[in-house]
Amino acid sequence: VSLKLIQIVEGETKFYVPASSLIKKEPDTYPVFFNPAAKINRDISIALTRVIGGRTYCDALAGLGARGIRISNEASSNMEVSLNDFNSNAISLAKKNAKINSVIQRCRITQEEANQFLYSRFGRDEKFDFIDIDPFGTPVPYLQAAIVATSDGGVISVTATDTAVLCGVYPLVSLRRYGSVSARSDFRHETAIRILLNFCARTAAMSDAGIEAIAAHSTRHYIRIYIRIRRSAQNANNSIKSFGYVTHCSICSENSVSTIFKERCNRCGSKVGSAGPLWTGAITDQSLILRAKDICDKMNFKEGAGLLASLNGVNEHYPFSYSLEEICSRLKLPSVSFEIVKDRLSSLGFMCMKQPFEKSGIKTNASYDDLMAVVNSIQNNRDR
Ligand SMILES: C[S@@+](CC[C@H](N)C(=O)[O-])C[C@H]1O[C@@H](n2cnc3c(N)ncnc32)[C@H](O)[C@@H]1O
Ligand SMILES: [Zn+2]
Repeated sequence: VSLKLIQIVEGETKFYVPASSLIKKEPDTYPVFFNPAAKINRDISIALTRVIGGRTYCDALAGLGARGIRISNEASSNMEVSLNDFNSNAISLAKKNAKINSVIQRCRITQEEANQFLYSRFGRDEKFDFIDIDPFGTPVPYLQAAIVATSDGGVISVTATDTAVLCGVYPLVSLRRYGSVSARSDFRHETAIRILLNFCARTAAMSDAGIEAIAAHSTRHYIRIYIRIRRSAQNANNSIKSFGYVTHCSICSENSVSTIFKERCNRCGSKVGSAGPLWTGAITDQSLILRAKDICDKMNFKEGAGLLASLNGVNEHYPFSYSLEEICSRLKLPSVSFEIVKDRLSSLGFMCMKQPFEKSGIKTNASYDDLMAVVNSIQNNRDR
């Protein structure tokens, strides 16, 4: 195929990419796909791979090799990186890109269907320490194979771009694809991340493995998770204990978390429906994300550093958040700043942080009523 290429630099790595991918709003999937906007996603991969380490990395849906070649060039010179894609145009470009960065000796480049490639490790000792799954759309068809091909204690990173499904626009598609009902709310991206984590834990459990969540983010049109695989029936059982439901009442705005599906709101009794089952457990490995944040700072990955910093403390909070805009509009009050609400909540002994998975929102252990009272008192003081 004739394709106009252009050389770019991302991080410390050079690539030939289709010239059209730099000008189009949505890059073409054919003859070969490249998305310059996914730099932040790849930056975080590099920082986390540097802190997690490992001997082998597998970029199972590698495209022209942007992630895998950057891992080889920027994360570790001791890692063997496998790059795989079933598209021959992608593979010839990945080879060219590995050569111009002088990492071709450390890279294994193959042209296979991803499941076939990963399942070839089934029942064999030779596994990967890190596997990345970055498909078009849902990652569901690749996760069982990725889990089978990951070493005990190894890590899988997963991108999902079917966010409308996971964020409650198509709850029944979510049910058939992920086995969990999605729901619209002011924290819908967090719900999406937790549904994907639940799916991974359930899929791992089928192979007698548990998962630990390392990091997650919601950026642009996709969500992304990093999980560690821990083999043993005991670990699988422990993971399953993290399954639950979150309920958002669209009438009174109260949220709750429970081990069972709810049909009535705790606070106002309105008819509701929970989202789930979903992962209600820890969503990050606190010490790893802080170390990865330091690496982002050192490598001048500003957005990545900001994103990892925003996750700090998230495990101390409920798996949902409230919206200050929504509260102000309900109370018919002008908008109020997060910082002022934060100070007031702290002085009352409540915890709070910015919701890291949404454009705005507040995570707190205060109830919706407490939060409304705080917003009300701030606005009343202002009038006086
Ligand atoms: C979103 S792109 C990957 C982008 C790449 N990770 C990056 O950072 O630039 C998805 C890639 O998966 C490949 N692909 C899709 N389905 C596949 C399958 N079943 N087996 C192997 N490759 C597949 C496509 O050819 C495409 O290159
Ligand atoms: Zn209610």
